[in-house]
Amino acid sequence: MREAAAVNAAAWNHQARLAGTPDGTTAGRLELTQYPGHGPGIELLGNVTGKTVVELGCGRGHNLAALAGAGALCTGIDIAEEQIRWAQAAWPHIDFHCADALDYLTTARPADIYLSIFGAIGLTDPDQLLPAIATAMHPEAILLFTVPVPDWLGTRHDHMTTRDGRRFPVRRWLLEPGEWVSQLRSAGLVLSDRWTVTEPAGGQTCTLIFSAAQPTSMPCV
Ligand SMILES: C[S@@+](CC[C@H](N)C(=O)[O-])C[C@H]1O[C@@H](n2cnc3c(N)ncnc32)[C@H](O)[C@@H]1O
Repeated sequence: MREAAAVNAAAWNHQARLAGTPDGTTAGRLELTQYPGHGPGIELLGNVTGKTVVELGCGRGHNLAALAGAGALCTGIDIAEEQIRWAQAAWPHIDFHCADALDYLTTARPADIYLSIFGAIGLTDPDQLLPAIATAMHPEAILLFTVPVPDWLGTRHDHMTTRDGRRFPVRRWLLEPGEWVSQLRSAGLVLSDRWTVTEPAGGQTCTLIFSAAQPTSMPCV
């Protein structure tokens, strides 16, 4: 396993072990920020009915459950096997695989929508991951991803403290908004839109959201 993936898997495996059983879990809203119920949601994706969606770094699958409820055909990928085990138990109607997003993208069937919600994008070297996503995307596919604003994480930029007080190292790529746009361009993708979300209490910005697509192909005349 790649170094960053192995380090991050250890942290998120432990987080999943603390999550208890998924009994009684119900699908909620698509959450694109760190604050449940806050900020934009499924409307950023348009009508997802019948669309194939892959979430790279799906965690316990809550966001895919929301999309499946709206009629999307969902696949979740996560490097942490405990997260996948929980997701499979909670949402048996969704396809979940334990894999590094980089490996999955080389073998997978193309999807209509690629998502990363504080997931593999930002936790994997973007010089490798964004070109791999661009290669997998068909001409009409879209990519939507959310990452934390670097300052919002503060001293937590290199670790995660789990509910039981344990501290795990985490590998992150925390880029400024303009750097994400450059990374998308270097990968051969075109920025479609971007959003910056402020914390519910106001003041500090917390979330960057980007959508991107393949460059529009020019008609041959
Ligand atoms: C902050 S959690 C977000 C989970 C979920 N997207 C959500 O919003 O609830 C990040 C997840 O990304 C996964 N992850 C990190 N790097 C990955 C990679 N290279 N491939 C697949 N999953 C990865 C972690 O294991 C973790 O479950």
